[in-house]
Order: sequence, then structure tokens, then C-alpha cells
Amino acid sequence: MDVAGFLRQSHVLLVVGKGGVGKSIVTAALAGVAADAGLDTLVVALDDSGSLPALLGQDRPFAYEEATLRPRLRARTLTSDSALFEYLDEHGMKRVSKRLMQSGVIDVIATAIPGIREVLVLGKLKQLERDRAADLILLDAPATGHAVSFLTSSAGLVGAARGGPLRSQAEEVVAMLRDPVRAQVLLVTIPEETPVNELIETAYQLEEEVGVALGPVVVNACYPVLDALGTDPGAAARAAGVAVPPDEELARLAAAAHFRMSRQRLQSAQLLRLATELPLAQLRLPYLFDTEVGPEGVAELAGTLRDQIPTLA
Ligand SMILES: Nc1ncnc2c1ncn2[C@@H]1O[C@H](COP(=O)(O)OP(=O)(O)O)[C@@H](O)[C@H]1O
Ligand SMILES: [Mg+2]
Repeated sequence: MDVAGFLRQSHVLLVVGKGGVGKSIVTAALAGVAADAGLDTLVVALDDSGSLPALLGQDRPFAYEEATLRPRLRARTLTSDSALFEYLDEHGMKRVSKRLMQSGVIDVIATAIPGIREVLVLGKLKQLERDRAADLILLDAPATGHAVSFLTSSAGLVGAARGGPLRSQAEEVVAMLRDPVRAQVLLVTIPEETPVNELIETAYQLEEEVGVALGPVVVNACYPVLDALGTDPGAAARAAGVAVPPDEELARLAAAAHFRMSRQRLQSAQLLRLATELPLAQLRLPYLFDTEVGPEGVAELAGTLRDQIPTLA
């Protein structure tokens, strides 16, 4: 499948994963791939937008109002407060909405009706999708645990609210999440035991409780496999006809090779387990040996995605 075709499968891609596995990096890389492939792309961050602006080369956080980052690439945030404010404004309650916000009553409502904040945010996302605000909307979703309740809250509210605008809003969100043409989830993990366990659990929960389509799993931060790690560094130097390093350096090289080999073994065991327990295609992104990953690292991962997406069935 070509890159543009892959990215046009669903109007909304929700990037979901445990905190720290690289959701924001993957979101940023996908955004670049999509914009370069000719898709009008909108990146949506929640609340304070976190590390995404820096990864996309911006020096300020995103705002509720869209900003154009470069041709075909825009970004914005979504917060439940702003979404409610906008909803009330659009429904002729401008004066009420101001007072509600100032009095902090939204916090009271949110405590009384669990899931309402999530439905407000997803309701706004659904509105953007229905308006076809972009060819592709990429959501940097909250960390899993949180993401599961984030996505199941609407289904929960459909059952809990007897009628009225809240229920119809929740129903429309559920309808979007259950339609693969409109939305799909891209799960992100790293090739380690606990994150893989959590990802498998999340995948089944999302399928059963939300009914959302799952795209390929992104396995981030994979160590590139080196074949010659078992070679004795002294013998290798002699064979290559170069000066043999002093003993302590040879010992350090051997220790590094040993570490890398055990790391590779753990990684391939986890990749295999993931493939066995979760029948989804995998996109594997390399570990970047940088002290801090910024836009250049994002561009490198984008290049890998561009190479690997066409290999998906
Ligand atoms: N492929 C990678 N190689 C090296 N470091 C990475 C990689 N992906 C992410 N990181 C680092 O891991 C941390 C978490 O990444 P981030 O995208 O913010 O995760 P999340 O959004 O899931 O919390 C950051 O410090 C980032 O620089
Ligand atoms: Mg993040």
C-alpha cells in the first residue's frame, strides 16, 4: 500500500500508548509523512500539548486556535473547557457560558457526570472530522489507562444519559469511533515486557469496549540488530591489520557487545511475543542514539515510516 493510501484509510488517527513510549514523537513523524504525501494534515494535542510543539520545530505551545506550521500542516489543542465554551456559544448561550466558566461550575459538572470532559473533547474532534477539517486528523491521545477510559467514556455515557444533547453527542462520538473510515487507533509501544503487556491488554479492551479499528502497531525505539557482536574485538583488530587496543579497552568493548547482545535477545523475544499474541502488522522504528530527540530525530523516524508503510499488506 502506498503511503498516501495508508494515511487516507481513516479520517482520524488516534495515537495511543503508555506514557513515555513515544506517542508524541510518532505523532510528529506521521504528521510530517502525511503532509509530505500531499495530505492536508491537522495535528491535535490535548490540554497543554506537551512535547509536540518542540518536536515539530515550534518554540511555543499550541493553542485552541489552529496554527499553520508549514504547508499542509496545521496544529491545535483541544480542551474540555474550551470545547464546552464553544458548544454553549454555538447554541445561543454566550452569556451563560462566560459566567459558567468564571464560576468554575464546569468542575462541579465534571465531578457529577464522569466522562463528560472526554465526551466534550471527543465531541469536538468528531465535529472536526465531520466538517472534514483536514484530510487527516492526528490525535496525540492521553497515556493508556487514561486513553482507554478516554475512549470508553462515550459508550458509558450513551448508557447513562437518558436523552438530550449529552446523549446524542456521546452517540455520535461512538459512531465515529466504530467507523473505520472515520477513525482508527494506532497503538505505540517499545519492545520491552511491561509496555508490550500493557499494549496487548489495551488493544483487546479498545476492540471490545469501544469497537474502534486498530491499525498497525508502532514498535518504537528498537535497537538496530548488529550481527558481529559475538566477535572477539582483539581478534577482529588483528584480522583487520590494525593496532590491537589495550586490554582495558578490549574489556570495555566486550562488555558493551555483551550488553547489546542481551538487549537484542530481549527485544526479539518481545517482538515475537507481540506478533504472536496480537495479530496486527508492526511498524518498527529505530532507537535514536541522541541525547535529546528533536525535529531531526522526528525526520529520521518519518523516513523509516515512509520505507515501511509500503511493505504493509
Ligand atoms: N526512537 C526513539 N529513540 C530514542 N529516544 C526516543 C525515541 N522515541 C522517543 N524517545 C524519547 O523518549 C521520551 C518519550 O517520548 P515521547 O514521544 O514524549 O513519549 P510519549 O508522548 O509517549 O510520552 C522522550 O524523551 C523522547 O526523546
Ligand atoms: Mg506525549
